Amino acid sequence: MRRKISTSRWLIPFLFVSYIFLFRTPEQAPAEAEQSQLPAQLPSPQLTFNFSSLVLEIGKAHFVERGSLTAILPVTQASLLALPDTLSPFLGPSSCVSKVLVVCPESLLLRSRAAVRQVFRSAPENVNHPDVSLHPWGGDGSPTVVALQVAAHASTKWLLILDDTGLNGLSDRTRDMLLCPVAVELPTGPRGVVGAPGNRSCAPPSPEALPALYLLPPFTLPSTLIQNVHEDWFNFGRSISQARKDRLGGVIRGYGDPDANWRNSVCPNRLSTTTSPRGGTKIPTPFVGDRSGGLFIFLLPNIDDLHLALQLLCRLYETGHSIKILLYANSRPASGVWETSSSCPLQYDAIVDQRTELGIHDWLGRMEREPDIIFAVSELATRSVTNEHSIVVRIPPEDLRHAHWMGSLSLTEWKNWNVPRIDISIITQDRPQSLARLLSSLSQGRFFGDSLSLRLNMEQSSDLETIRMVGAYQWGHGAVFTHRRVIHGGLLPAVVESWYPHSNDSYGLLLEDDVELSPLFYAWIKMGILRYRYGEGRSPAAQLFGISLYQQKNIELHPEGRKAFDPRRLFAKNNVPDPSTPYLSQIPCSWGAVYFPEHWREFHDYLAARLSESTMEIERIVVPDVRSNNWTKSWKKYFIEMVYLRGYVMLYPNYAEFVSLSTNHLEVGSHVKERPKEKQEVFRLPLMELSESRQLLDLPGGGLPGWETLPVLNLTGCMSSLEEIIRAGEGN
Ligand SMILES: *[C@@H]1O[C@H](CO)[C@@H](O)[C@H](O)[C@H]1NC(C)=O
Ligand SMILES: *[C@@H]1O[C@H](CO)[C@@H](O)[C@H](O)[C@H]1NC(C)=O
Ligand SMILES: *[C@@H]1O[C@H](CO)[C@@H](O)[C@H](O)[C@H]1NC(C)=O
Ligand SMILES: *[C@@H]1O[C@H](CO)[C@@H](O)[C@H](O)[C@H]1NC(C)=O
Ligand SMILES: *[C@@H]1O[C@H](CO)[C@@H](O)[C@H](O)[C@H]1NC(C)=O
Repeated sequence: MRRKISTSRWLIPFLFVSYIFLFRTPEQAPAEAEQSQLPAQLPSPQLTFNFSSLVLEIGKAHFVERGSLTAILPVTQASLLALPDTLSPFLGPSSCVSKVLVVCPESLLLRSRAAVRQVFRSAPENVNHPDVSLHPWGGDGSPTVVALQVAAHASTKWLLILDDTGLNGLSDRTRDMLLCPVAVELPTGPRGVVGAPGNRSCAPPSPEALPALYLLPPFTLPSTLIQNVHEDWFNFGRSISQARKDRLGGVIRGYGDPDANWRNSVCPNRLSTTTSPRGGTKIPTPFVGDRSGGLFIFLLPNIDDLHLALQLLCRLYETGHSIKILLYANSRPASGVWETSSSCPLQYDAIVDQRTELGIHDWLGRMEREPDIIFAVSELATRSVTNEHSIVVRIPPEDLRHAHWMGSLSLTEWKNWNVPRIDISIITQDRPQSLARLLSSLSQGRFFGDSLSLRLNMEQSSDLETIRMVGAYQWGHGAVFTHRRVIHGGLLPAVVESWYPHSNDSYGLLLEDDVELSPLFYAWIKMGILRYRYGEGRSPAAQLFGISLYQQKNIELHPEGRKAFDPRRLFAKNNVPDPSTPYLSQIPCSWGAVYFPEHWREFHDYLAARLSESTMEIERIVVPDVRSNNWTKSWKKYFIEMVYLRGYVMLYPNYAEFVSLSTNHLEVGSHVKERPKEKQEVFRLPLMELSESRQLLDLPGGGLPGWETLPVLNLTGCMSSLEEIIRAGEGN
């Protein structure tokens, strides 16, 4: 049903407002106006007065009821053209606004009406639109006075006071907060003035509630707080604060608004040039928003799935993103708020399990803007997604309960979700039991909807059982390729030739058959690649050559021999702020690690040149004092040389108790001739279990740290730095 704007609906307020203007005695306001020029006369606000109890109160507050909010929107000559856009958020599905009072100068009445009609013509149908009515006024007098006069006669319990820019320039999260606020007995909004009398400043929007002297629009408040008309927002805020013991004029709250520089545009002039006693001019420091909120759509079958995704959703919500949830296989259509905790109230809509595709399509069509990310657990749900710019992330339903780690990804990382491709390359010869163990652990792996190609490389001397096993393996996540050598090559060509990158987004996970994997190994790889290759915190100089699944517990490269190694103890001793941090080490890992495309190509070139002896004899020692110089026929020996010369590093996990994403069983093979039990135990590590998927985020601050904060170790496991290791290599 399309709602019409009937003449009668706006005529009554018109008459009413005209009445105010014709008959109001002009002397009413000026007495207050004079005082407003004298900020020094303010009573000292005791803003320290138990603000924490107020914050608690806000945390516990419920949302206002749907339909209990009236928005007051002034229109000016300057804002008229944008009026249709300014109005559209109020018509969206997530708004609690039942009435919009558009306040316009009489001279703009006809054009305003046309603009409002236009909005309704293009608005989606079958949504409960608010009533929009026009309130013309004489055109003189302050817009603040008019807005307050109109507000004073609104019939709903709650008000949303706007300036002529409406909700433009605010983040989705701040918009949602204003369109459906929590019931707090104070003006609440993103823009406010803080400080002591004589030294006031416009505060940046803050996700934590912040006490304010007074607020500037947009803000919400209970309609009971509007009792008198005031000349400006300063006086209005003062009237509120004087009635309170805590002297609060409002609460500032906002979430990563793109318009964080509002203080340069809207902030009242007399604040931005607060004069200090010495007469200097204080220039407000621009607020640099450190969050950029995205719009995330979650398409989930029902409330149980919502429950499984809870930690992921709350993490995204708490980092300032907007989240819209549609349950598409519900037993009945509904919309509700699922309050899990005061800090993470989730709103959702629900449709029934018929005509699902169409229902999802319609629901998506009602979004005010293109979502950044559309998250789903079935192909059905994303079939009707036609948005060109949204990134679709689809994971299998059974992986949802293990997806907490995805909550630590930044918006940029989410947007790159579908970019990296990981190829798995297994190198095997004649250890069928080992291969069976590796393949079985690979089958238990969780791949979060990604497709990975699998390469099984057999040596010429592979036994029949190995060949049979390779032929029988079922891989459900992508293409399988099998290879077998005709001339025995040994481990060096077997590993080095097993994989070559196809593009700069192609990554090789190299696995010898005595390795076993944690079911969560892929989450660790993907989290690391997204952060350090595609995220804002990526390594700028491409010094990172790979990601190890294996935790180091020994350092083998000491000239004197193997030494036990405990990164947490080392970091604690060296005053690393959080010893549980993952770290960078120059040592390449061969017991489960991903290698990056540029570095692997470079290694091929280096190895070809090195083995040809064109520039140096093969016995030449490149890295001083490391044990690998005594290794023969080892690809790692040469990789260590390249890493040393170029100052490259690999990322290593550092979970408690050496919990690892891969382990090694040190079985008889090319390099291991005998296997005493004790020696095996030295290298075997506990694998992170599937039921412990939360453990992936046992990281400083609950996520992978920024590139610059990662500790760096050199080839012998000593604390170093990225600059130092480059310098060490350049000396050669
Ligand atoms: C402030 O309020 C909190 C919570 O109600 C209470 O625990 C605290 O003691 C109060 N502090 C003061 C100074 O009144
Ligand atoms: C003004 O307030 C700021 C913080 O809001 C404070 O750092 C500064 O010292 C104050 N200046 C004066 C003159 O009181
Ligand atoms: C891949 O990366 C290398 C090294 O950074 C660069 O030289 C090359 O142009 C890149 N290739 C593509 C296709 O982007
Ligand atoms: C390593 O090689 C050097 C020189 O070739 C030799 O002197 C040394 O004994 C060897 N070390 C081991 C542990 O084999
Ligand atoms: C690692 O650093 C330590 C201490 O600075 C130094 O003694 C050692 O030679 C370095 N190792 C290598 C291989 O550069």
